[in-house]
Amino acid sequence: MNDIHRKIGLSLGADICWPACYEHIMRRLDLKIPTPDGTVRFDVERVSIEPFDLKQPVKYDVVVDRLTHWYHTSREWIKKGVVMNDLYVFNNPWSVQANEKHTSYAAMMALGMPIPETWMVPPKGYAPNPDLKPTLSRYAKLFDLGKIGRELGYPLFVKPYDGGGWRAVTKCDDEQGLKRAYEDSDTMVMHLQAGVNGFDRFVRCIGFGPQTHTVLYDPAAPLHDRYTREKNFISQADEEHLRKITLTINAFFGWDFNSCESLRRDGVWYPIDFANPCPDSQVTSLHYHFPWMVKSYIRWSTFVAGTKKKMRKNLDWEPFYAIAALDLPFEEKLDRYAKIADERFETARFEEWCARHLGHLDEVAWEFFATNECRDAIRQKVAALFPAHEVEQFTELFYNRVQHWRGDHVPAGR
Ligand SMILES: Nc1ncnc2c1ncn2[C@@H]1O[C@H](COP(=O)(O)OP(=O)(O)O)[C@@H](O)[C@H]1O
Ligand SMILES: [Mg+2]
Repeated sequence: MNDIHRKIGLSLGADICWPACYEHIMRRLDLKIPTPDGTVRFDVERVSIEPFDLKQPVKYDVVVDRLTHWYHTSREWIKKGVVMNDLYVFNNPWSVQANEKHTSYAAMMALGMPIPETWMVPPKGYAPNPDLKPTLSRYAKLFDLGKIGRELGYPLFVKPYDGGGWRAVTKCDDEQGLKRAYEDSDTMVMHLQAGVNGFDRFVRCIGFGPQTHTVLYDPAAPLHDRYTREKNFISQADEEHLRKITLTINAFFGWDFNSCESLRRDGVWYPIDFANPCPDSQVTSLHYHFPWMVKSYIRWSTFVAGTKKKMRKNLDWEPFYAIAALDLPFEEKLDRYAKIADERFETARFEEWCARHLGHLDEVAWEFFATNECRDAIRQKVAALFPAHEVEQFTELFYNRVQHWRGDHVPAGR
């Protein structure tokens, strides 16, 4: 039988640990998927950055992209690959480019999610522009920042409309604090958002295709302890609710991988930050959860490449709005949104495919995460981030947390 080679391209930047583990595990898995046309094999390659002719072919079936949000040559190569060469890419690059946090809030409010009350205000400062004076003098209305603050109540949050990575986020306890944060925001366009104060759970739900994983998050902890190792911190029903929220957001925006932050107060989950396409995948932040992430990369990329899943070139929002318009309680609407997500991510087919072709992944990954190759991948990432005298100590810490995960996930029959 013929071998059919499916090519998976990794479009990487500062990533070190997850691609190394991904490549090692893919080699160990040595996938050979029987199909009527031949045996499907997978070639994994790192995508290089170089000039390209718009008409040149793209050799990849799937590109896992970690650069779109800031490295524009790769983003434009990917966009050409989708529109000209039938490439499937995680994530939809147009959607990453256009749908910032602001749009994600507005769209999910429209679908009925309890997003905290949010205002946008014109910026305090401007870059020089010849049209600035005529525009502002004619149309900019003086406004009372304090009044918006009183309407939202304190504490509230001031944050960039297109934020990420906690850049310029300020918690304001009173009007004085709000005015100071606004002064400091200078040319950034900011949101003022009502605080979900007194929440009892802060959960991050990572979505990867139809796969989801919830983590209890501690925003006050140092970076390497924010993803906690708590278990059973929410009920099965809450877990299911957050899964549906995350899959709805990701299907709506065409994001194959993304993470959604939600806060629970008085039993209600308030999503507060869910425009994080291309979420943190580093062992130095994920530690215990890192193996889940690497395995999710493998499952979704091999499924998409192996089945030649078609990329949705358009987002097609209408079916979501049609549900939003129905006279139904939110939970019932959410069920229906999640059904669209399951169709778009082909959840049932994915699960069947994994059961049939990736049955040995658990075992292979479990073994791999105890090897020197794994330890070395962790060390390289640590060495890139930590001062020299801490490299040993933090390599041990992250490696030990991965071993903790292994202890909790011993494959059946071991
Ligand atoms: N509405 C809110 N209520 C309570 N805490 C918030 C709210 N908005 C932001 N925060 C806090 O500020 C942090 C950063 O805000 P977030 O919107 O997540 O920005 P970023 O996109 O930079 O991560 C959150 O992780 C949370 O701790
Ligand atoms: Mg956040």
